[in-house]
Order: sequence, then structure tokens, then C-alpha cells
Amino acid sequence: VREPDLTGRHVVISAGGTREPLDPVRFLGNRSSGKQGYALARTAAARGARVTLIAANTTALPDPAGVDLVPVGTAVQLREAVLKAAADADAVVMAAAVADFRPAVYAAGKIKKRDGQDPEPISLVRNPDILAEISRDRARPGQVVVGFAAETDDVLANGRAKLRRKGCDLLVVNEVGESKTFGEAESEAVVLGADGSETPVPFGPKEVLSDTVWDLVTDRFSGASAE
Ligand code: C5P
Repeated sequence: VREPDLTGRHVVISAGGTREPLDPVRFLGNRSSGKQGYALARTAAARGARVTLIAANTTALPDPAGVDLVPVGTAVQLREAVLKAAADADAVVMAAAVADFRPAVYAAGKIKKRDGQDPEPISLVRNPDILAEISRDRARPGQVVVGFAAETDDVLANGRAKLRRKGCDLLVVNEVGESKTFGEAESEAVVLGADGSETPVPFGPKEVLSDTVWDLVTDRFSGASAE
């Protein structure tokens, strides 16, 4: 049984995967299930935190008890919800898979196929990088920001580069591949710290990885208050 070491803390967690609509019936999406973000929410609540869970397209998962759930669809909506909740947050954990790009145009009516005509190409525009933005513009001093990265190769080197690029305090790096991590209840990861630390988390339940993340976050809280 853990100490309620997050009592009095407000943590914001994004979960799931954004969907970027092309027309009223179609979207560009990804394979994120939301399970990691939900495990982070449950474990933070169990450790006493006030939890805001910004959930992108996670309707397959049961609502976690005692958590303030904010459902969103797109990256732009997720950004709005995260920025609002982060204003008074002690920690923000971006576990959601946010689409890097969205269709440049949204067709108000369903896109039709026409006999003998090639399909129109889909043009994309960049979505805002929410993790980079909240890391740069901390809503309050000492706020701890955590990102996630799914990498298929050169996991550590790519993770280090991403940590620097995003400017977050901790980056949880998962190795992904066919049937690895996405939609599963278990995962294996390395948590990289901006201070150079490297915390391996062996293959196991997403709750165990979540508790390691909260351990590392609370270390950074106490580090800040000790100064
Ligand atoms: O750059 P990449 O998508 O690999 O980074 C993953 C991390 O950045 C995740 O924590 C994800 O939630 C966050 N992210 C974001 N906004 C984006 C893309 C990713 O906050 N547009």
C-alpha cells in the first residue's frame, strides 16, 4: 500500500488518440487505446491526487472513479482542454497520441467517389505540439511536465533527442512494433530525465509504469520545494 503522497496535488493527464476529421464520417486516427493514460489516472487518484483526465476517443474504457474526465476528439480540442486544466496543475502528463497533422480541409458533406475519376489527394497541415508548448510556457513555476514517445528503433538515442526538443522534465520511451504496447495492458519502457537520469521499467502492467512515473514526478516536487 502506497502513501497518499500526491495529496493536495492537481495532476493533468491526457489519454487516448486524437481523431482528425476529413468529413462527417471519416477521420485520420491512430492505435492508441488510452489504457496507459487511464492507468496513470487511477494510480494518481489512489495516491491522493486531484486528477483531470483529458480523454481523446476512449469510449471503450470504463470511466475511472474519482477522476474529473474531459472528453475531446481532435488535437486542437485536446490542446484547449490541457491548457485550461494545466493552469493550476502541479504536473502534466501527456500520454495521449496526438496527431502531428490534420486534414487541411474539412468537407462539410461526405466525400464521394466519382466514376472514372481519380481520388483527390488529402492535404495535411501541422497540429500544434502541445507537449513542447506546455514545457516552454510553464503555467506555474516548478510544474513538472512528462511526455511519452513511441519509438521503433534507436529507442534511447531518439528518446534523448526528443526529450531535449520537447523541453519536458521526463520522457517515457516505449518501444513499439506490431502488437507491442498499443491496446495491451502491459508495456516495457525507459523513463528519461532532463537531468540525465535513466529509469528502466521492465515488462509489466501499465499501473507499475504509472507508479514509477509518479515516483519520479514526486522526486521532482520535493527537489523544487527543498530549494
Ligand atoms: O513527437 P511525438 O509525437 O513523438 O511526441 C510524443 C509526445 O508529444 C507525447 O507525449 C504526445 O502526447 C506529445 N504530442 C503533443 N502534441 C503533438 C504531438 C505529440 O503534445 N502535436
